[in-house]
Amino acid sequence: MRRLTYLPLGVKLTAIIFAALVVALGVVYLWVVPRLESRLIDAKLRELREAAQGLAFELDTRQPGLSPLVLIPGDRARRLDEVAQRIGGRATLLFQLNPRSAGDLDLRVFDDTNRRTSAGIADDPLVQRAARTNRTIAGRVERDGSEYAEVATVLPVSRASVLLLAVPIDNVVVGAAPIQRSVLVAGAIGLAGALLAGSLGAQRYVRRIRRLETAAERIASGDLSVPVRVEGRDEIGQLAEAFENMRARLEGLDRARREFVANASHELKTPLFALSGFLELMTEEELDEETRREFSEQMADQVERLTALTGNLLDLSRIDAGELPLEKDAVSIDASALQLVQEFAAAADASDHTLEVGASEDVAAYGDEERIVRIGRALVENALRHTQPGTSIRVSAMADGDRAELRVSDNGQGIDPEDVTRIFDRFYRGHGPAAHGSGLGLAIAREVAELMGGSLGVRRVGEETVFALSLARADEAAFSRENARMPALDSS
Ligand SMILES: Nc1ncnc2c1ncn2[C@@H]1O[C@H](COP(=O)(O)OP(=O)(O)OP(=O)(O)O)[C@@H](O)[C@H]1O
Ligand SMILES: [Mg+2]
Repeated sequence: MRRLTYLPLGVKLTAIIFAALVVALGVVYLWVVPRLESRLIDAKLRELREAAQGLAFELDTRQPGLSPLVLIPGDRARRLDEVAQRIGGRATLLFQLNPRSAGDLDLRVFDDTNRRTSAGIADDPLVQRAARTNRTIAGRVERDGSEYAEVATVLPVSRASVLLLAVPIDNVVVGAAPIQRSVLVAGAIGLAGALLAGSLGAQRYVRRIRRLETAAERIASGDLSVPVRVEGRDEIGQLAEAFENMRARLEGLDRARREFVANASHELKTPLFALSGFLELMTEEELDEETRREFSEQMADQVERLTALTGNLLDLSRIDAGELPLEKDAVSIDASALQLVQEFAAAADASDHTLEVGASEDVAAYGDEERIVRIGRALVENALRHTQPGTSIRVSAMADGDRAELRVSDNGQGIDPEDVTRIFDRFYRGHGPAAHGSGLGLAIAREVAELMGGSLGVRRVGEETVFALSLARADEAAFSRENARMPALDSS
């Protein structure tokens, strides 16, 4: 088993969910519940205020013109009791002895539903304030170690009397306690549920990431055959898809590399096998001069083929490594066309083809002059090799908007439709009559054309097969400037 030197993702995710929930519950518990409590107390104070004002008015007006102090005592006490019971607290009526004094007012308890604790009630700050300001005062007061919600009001007519209603707050707060408990219980259940769901969910993600890790390890170890499973469209799904694309591409490259090595060794083996055969024949048998010369020519052919092949393989490896040196000059395409026709004149003659410069214009392109001519050579060579004797071949230079084209056209049998898309593949040889090349000419030509920012394509125009190398056109002035420093090739 692997020893864990880090905190697993599942644990981290669960911890994050847990922390978020604790914060949310903390907010509910520390902010929402206290607010609820103060709302309950406010409601209680409103209720007390209504009751106090109602009772004060009643006491004052039951016997119009008479002070409540002379109200029939039994009647007065009964009303106070009724109200005290209704509000679940205590009702006290006080009388002010020195209405006009400046300091603490001297109030006497007149009636109290809780006579036992009447002492000191006259000093209640709310009672004092109400007597002094002639207004109804509500608030929270602490007395004898308990907290009360209180309302003190001055009787509207006989102003010297103060009515106090008090309710112990504990009763009110008790109303909030069950809610507080419920929040705690619900919070605990919620936390446990969220932890379970969170850790199960996290496990699911962790499993998906583990599968990706296994896939990455498999790819790293060189096994590219098993596709990476893509599940879901989220970020992990996208990562899996990126892995799968990478695997598919690597698999393609790996297959191409294997095919390349197999093809290259096969191509090298054929001429080497032929050469060793000739060598053996030449050493073992009594040969007349004629046969010996014939063998020598055949061997020279094979050596030439080997040289061309190794040159091509070298080019391909440089292209793949991104190390093919390429110049970027303004090159005269019409001069290249002319050069090609001159170079291949003898070969065309020998194979009974007509080779000429087609309708051309003075046009220059940006590229590597040597490489442009080599691409032209591959095209003319193909036209000579893959068409019947008697075919005419034309090499021309044309401008087409901001492109310059070197075209090699022949009126031969054309290219098999099933070959057209594949003739630019490495080692692909068509089904034509003279299929003894190595199938690298067009592949290299196209890749080099693309490295020069151009393209190489083939199309059928009427009776003609036209291969066209298209490059960025250079203006004639740039070409003349670059060549002004060179001596003229042909001054005659
Ligand atoms: N002008 C053409 N007419 C008909 N077929 C052609 C012509 N040019 C190319 N082809 C077909 O395209 C195939 C690929 O050409 P490519 O130049 O890549 O390979 P190759 O000529 O067979 O070998 P290599 O050029 O490497 O010696 C040829 O085998 C041939 O079948
Ligand atoms: Mg070729």
